Amino acid sequence: MRVAQESSSPEALEGERKTVTALFADIKGSTELERDLDPEEARAIVDPALKLMIDAVHRYDGYVVQSTGDGIFAMFGAPLAHEDHPQRALYAAIRMQEDLRRYGATLRERGRAPIEIRIGVNTGEVVVRAIQTAAGHAEYTPIGHTNNLASRMQTVAPTGSIATTEDTRKLCEGYFTFRSLGPTRVKGVSEAVTVHEVTGLGPLRTRLQASARRGLSRFVGRAAELEQMKRALELAKSGRGQLVAAVGEAGVGKSRLFFEFRAAGQPGCLVLETLSVSHGKASAYLPLIDLLKNYFEITPDDDARRRREKIGGKILILDRALEDTLPYLFTLLEVAESDDQIARLDPEIRRRRTLDAIKRLLLRESLHQPLVAIFEDLHWVDEGSHALLNLLAESLGTARVLMLVNYRPEFTHNWGNKTYYTQLRLDPLGAETGEEMLNALLDDGRELAPLKQLIIEKTEGNPLFIEEIVQALFEQGALVRNGAVKLAKSLNTIQIPSTVQAVLASRIDRLPAEQKDLLQTLAIIGKEFPLGLVRAVSGKSDDELDSLLAGLQTAEFIYEQPAVGDVAYVFKHALSQQVASGSALMERRRVLHERVARALEVRFPETVETQPELIAHHFTEAGLGAEAVPYWQRAGERALQRSANLEAIDQLEKGLELLGSPPDVAERSRPADEARRFALLLLLGVGRVRVGEFAKAHQAFLRAAETAKSLGSTENVISAALELVHMTHTTGFPAPEALQLLEEALQKLGPDDSPLKARTLSGLARFLGVTGERQKLMSYAPQAVAMARRIGDPKLVSYSLLGMFYALSGPEHADERLAITTEMQDLAKAADVENLTYSQHFWRGYCLLELGDTAGADEDFEAYGRWAAETNQPFHQSICEMLRAMRALMSGRFEDSERLAQNTFVITRSMQAETAAGVFGLQMFALRREQGRLKEVEPVVRMFVQQNSADAAWRPGLAVIYSELGLTADARAEFENLAKHDFGDLPRDSMWMGTLTYFADICTFLAGC
Ligand SMILES: Nc1ncnc2c1ncn2[C@@H]1O[C@H](COP(=O)(O)OP(=O)(O)OP(=O)(O)O)[C@@H](O)[C@H]1O
Ligand SMILES: [Mg+2]
Repeated sequence: MRVAQESSSPEALEGERKTVTALFADIKGSTELERDLDPEEARAIVDPALKLMIDAVHRYDGYVVQSTGDGIFAMFGAPLAHEDHPQRALYAAIRMQEDLRRYGATLRERGRAPIEIRIGVNTGEVVVRAIQTAAGHAEYTPIGHTNNLASRMQTVAPTGSIATTEDTRKLCEGYFTFRSLGPTRVKGVSEAVTVHEVTGLGPLRTRLQASARRGLSRFVGRAAELEQMKRALELAKSGRGQLVAAVGEAGVGKSRLFFEFRAAGQPGCLVLETLSVSHGKASAYLPLIDLLKNYFEITPDDDARRRREKIGGKILILDRALEDTLPYLFTLLEVAESDDQIARLDPEIRRRRTLDAIKRLLLRESLHQPLVAIFEDLHWVDEGSHALLNLLAESLGTARVLMLVNYRPEFTHNWGNKTYYTQLRLDPLGAETGEEMLNALLDDGRELAPLKQLIIEKTEGNPLFIEEIVQALFEQGALVRNGAVKLAKSLNTIQIPSTVQAVLASRIDRLPAEQKDLLQTLAIIGKEFPLGLVRAVSGKSDDELDSLLAGLQTAEFIYEQPAVGDVAYVFKHALSQQVASGSALMERRRVLHERVARALEVRFPETVETQPELIAHHFTEAGLGAEAVPYWQRAGERALQRSANLEAIDQLEKGLELLGSPPDVAERSRPADEARRFALLLLLGVGRVRVGEFAKAHQAFLRAAETAKSLGSTENVISAALELVHMTHTTGFPAPEALQLLEEALQKLGPDDSPLKARTLSGLARFLGVTGERQKLMSYAPQAVAMARRIGDPKLVSYSLLGMFYALSGPEHADERLAITTEMQDLAKAADVENLTYSQHFWRGYCLLELGDTAGADEDFEAYGRWAAETNQPFHQSICEMLRAMRALMSGRFEDSERLAQNTFVITRSMQAETAAGVFGLQMFALRREQGRLKEVEPVVRMFVQQNSADAAWRPGLAVIYSELGLTADARAEFENLAKHDFGDLPRDSMWMGTLTYFADICTFLAGC
């Protein structure tokens, strides 16, 4: 084991976070033993037991952290990570119990009381620290609750048994069998812990078997590989033996490919299958023994004699000439009779002959029927078995044998030059196949598309990682299956499941210490990093760095990316990056993040402009909130400029979160922080309006106004209020506070002209224009325009004109309104002010339409539509869609109109637009009316009116229906009802104009009756 590693980096000894399985084993009653016996005698009994325990740990590559007088504390998965650390711990535990039972029996024979042990096991995260105890020797101590819990498991384990927690059981289910001991109170843990006793080995040996038990995911892709395997089988059957190797990283689908090949059927062939296990390198010939047992059909229940019979019988039936292989096979399969001559042979000769025996047996069998021999996971193969594979590979050319092997890239062999050798390099699933797999695992609904995208990006198409992540999301309740699969929580990051974490950690741990150390640093820098930044952060010399980076490239953790100027690297897997950075201690992470942030600021000043969010992220992770906030603000501003509205919201909220809540009155306020808060809130509101979250935007602007007040800044109060006006004005979302805020501010501004005052007056006019307070409107609107013209700023003039537009309502002012909107447009074009595009096009189109210039109106509406799409604003897109529906209706394209109206409804409903249903209803009403199909909507409208009699908005519509359907009495009754208080009950809202046209129609109808 690579425990004592030399390293020139001081950080290497700092320690790291690891997921491990801790094991405590303790001899029961050792105190009594020592009390009753002479100390020397007691040791003579206890020490061999301790040795057995330690050996069992070592056999499965565990690390003995501590060995006290009567027990041990061991861990698996550290210092060196193993992807199957929980299984290893349980194998070791079972072996300990078995060995101790045997030892106990010998003690009993010697008239001593037998020794029994209790074992406790638990899996979880720990911090592992190395302590230098002597020159070149380090001791590893894990610290964390995981250990305590393992130690508690040991105390609750029944004597002679193994107790584990739920965490360990979950990872080992199927590989072992368990019996629940129920919830148990454990010292130091507030809630009861479910304890499981390990009762023995389970039926599973491989991960693929484990996932088969869960239900295999639908097989996708790999058609070409299967085809090649089938061709190889045909060749082999015809006497031209073939060796096919599937090579690929952990989880990429090697075993699954073989499984599918087998499932396709190999009629007339004998298929023998075997595998190497991760802790099997030290156990010679394990895969071969397995293969032979399989061939001779030996079951665990067969005793030695029965086994000998099976082996002998089969060999003799096959070919008497093979009789001389029998002693070697007996010895290998450990069924030799007591006088085993083979055991006395020179080991090298014995080995050669044994291997030769197996080879002859298999080749002879292939004469009888074609043979498919499958060897899995050669990266773990032991030397002896590897030698047999070499031997077989040599003599394959003319045999009816198809040898299928698979391994991860780290395994090497020298079969490459054989003409009958084919290598299948298994790459991760591509984006399309990956999606196909996810569609089968989840649903193919569009709702989950972003999640699928995220999973594919994260896993880079590794099917094992895809499966494990999906499974973990279900377990965490982030995904729920209730008929269809739905996302129950929003997800920004995906937690790495412990299975995936174990696979990746064990790859990372096999790197030399310095490379691993650098990998952690790189992981903290990010998924991509320029060489210059690595230099600045790592503090290593160029030569040193070059060679370390080259090593990491060879090991396929990172690869170089073409970049302008500087060399850049990127992590091959986003997940290895996450695991590597997660393994660094928090303190180290903080230090590195700060180093990265400062290096970016000083050495890559362009980042400040182009990627402020990167610097913000590193300062945030470094725990330096105050330094991060300005960068979050800048990032939010930039994102808004690019119309990346959701991103902006996210960044601005991070900034606000770091600022914390506003100080109490009692606390000393920090003006700089509050000014920052104001800016963030204002931008956040803008972002929220853009994505249609009006209620949240409203809150943000109100909070901004509050903050501005606390700072005593009238200008900022006005800015916040004007945003409220803008929102109400464009979307109709009520923000009544705007009026008071602006009027108060106006008082404070004094009598003189100023751009600020002109804007305030314009804002008031706009607000009053849509809320309908005409008296005030008539006063503010002309003042605003006059002041703006005196100041002479075209932008300001354009801004103020819209108030005037409202002031000049009524059909008699149609031409003036067109003149106003045309001037607005000209001013905007001259000033090249992008943000005025909305007002400019929408209102001018509206006026043109009023005056009957449909072609002109269409041009403006189209331009409005382009702007809405470019700036990525669903609200405006929905208005454009609504306008299109209206235009389609006007030109008699009823089907188009209906479709467009539906679209509008879909878009608006997803926002908090309360008017969505109303607008849709109105459009459908107009449409059905034009189609002469009002009869269809009559019952709905009538019911609506009956149920909402207080809300009279639909009554005129009902009266229209009655008149169109010729129901004179009903129409008249409804009309009388509406006219009751001199039409005073009808709201003067945006429906008013429409209502008037309805009345015109109703009156025409009634007059004609
Ligand atoms: N083409 C595929 N379609 C659907 N699922 C797949 C595909 N390939 C692999 N899987 C699934 O991904 C998981 C991992 O696959 P598999 O066990 O074959 O990987 P492996 O390459 O053998 O890994 P290891 O090196 O760890 O043995 C399995 O559950 C398997 O069912
Ligand atoms: Mg496999």
